Amino acid sequence: MRVLVVGSGGREHALAWKLAKEAEVIAAPGNPGIAEDVETVSISTKRHQELAQLCLDRQIDLVIVGPEEPLIEGLADVLREKGITVFGPGADGAGLEGSKVFSKQLMQRAGVPTSPFETFTNPTVAKEYAKARYDAGKAVVVKASGNALGKGVVVTNTYEEATDAIQQMLVGKQFGLAGSKIVIEDRLEGPEFSILTIVGDHNFVSLPVAQDHKRSLDGNKGPNTGGMGAFSPVSWVTPDLVKTVEQTIIKPTIDSLREQGITYRGTIFSGIMMDQGKPHCLEFNVRMGDPETQVVVARLGNGFLKALYAAATGNIIEPPEVLDNAAVSIVVASEHYPILSSKGSPITLLECPVGAKFFHAGTSLLNGELITNGGRVMTATAAAGNLRDARKLAYRAAAAVVFEGARYRSDIAADA
Ligand code: GLY
Repeated sequence: MRVLVVGSGGREHALAWKLAKEAEVIAAPGNPGIAEDVETVSISTKRHQELAQLCLDRQIDLVIVGPEEPLIEGLADVLREKGITVFGPGADGAGLEGSKVFSKQLMQRAGVPTSPFETFTNPTVAKEYAKARYDAGKAVVVKASGNALGKGVVVTNTYEEATDAIQQMLVGKQFGLAGSKIVIEDRLEGPEFSILTIVGDHNFVSLPVAQDHKRSLDGNKGPNTGGMGAFSPVSWVTPDLVKTVEQTIIKPTIDSLREQGITYRGTIFSGIMMDQGKPHCLEFNVRMGDPETQVVVARLGNGFLKALYAAATGNIIEPPEVLDNAAVSIVVASEHYPILSSKGSPITLLECPVGAKFFHAGTSLLNGELITNGGRVMTATAAAGNLRDARKLAYRAAAAVVFEGARYRSDIAADA
């Protein structure tokens, strides 16, 4: 089978690496690390027609679209119109991530447990609502409705912080059009985990649960990021809890999409928070998580490609083999991530320990030399028989990624 992975991040590197064990894989545009594992073709994720032509020229059997942006922009629709098999929702289904308003309203209609919310375009009315919630003893989260590349969610502690966020989004146009509509929801408190679910026409299959570390600094301090590290399994997330999430969150969501005439063939990534002992949906994403994917693929045996292909072709999805192991990924970021990203610092990769792998994200080549090209530069990922050993290996691998200002959290999976 010939597979095209679309994207250029750590998630796409992990997918390409894993799928290359079972298929001939091409990635577009890829990155220097991906290019060490599979063929890469330099076509941007924005060039939908060129990607379609590549699929036709190279007789691609399955396209896996990694990031949300091309899905929201309708890449899967363009490819499907040309008869190409795609794992990833069309623009309608991608609204689950592309519009927080759509997503929260769907959750409400489908009876999915989520925090109470309202949507706003008027800053004065939004601030009044935030004040009322703080007066009622709640704290709020302010979310840009559109796709703000992972930066449009502000978790506030005070009414003043909430008004700042509202002002910046609705008046300061911090996220442009993506922030012209906002959602304000009550802040839930509790432990979080991520579930990636492969969704097809007839059934769905959840992959091993992972836990992400979203804050930039140790001890869950600092600003929110795309994720600074992840681990799997998550011991306290029992099979029964996964079943509850599937029954109360994932199934009603898929049913509701169907009722709206939306055929969804791709991943639903549910960000779950436990609140008062019950799983609540914080958000949906329409792609796999990053860095969750890196640990999830490290825990899968055979059958992953078959499952993605079954979903993409509307067939029954068989669960892939899950290994009896554990995996940890550590994001090595540039010094000022997520405030600023760094470009152009030379990277030295020391020896990667056996059992670990460098998944490249923000890297590029300059005259043959590996340099930084973004905030999250590399995900050092390791698998072993248990979390303690996987963590040790992943930290040894992270220490082997050397560039000026390189930093990573030291407490990834510490309490796991
Ligand atoms: N790690 C969280 C995300 O991929 O959105």
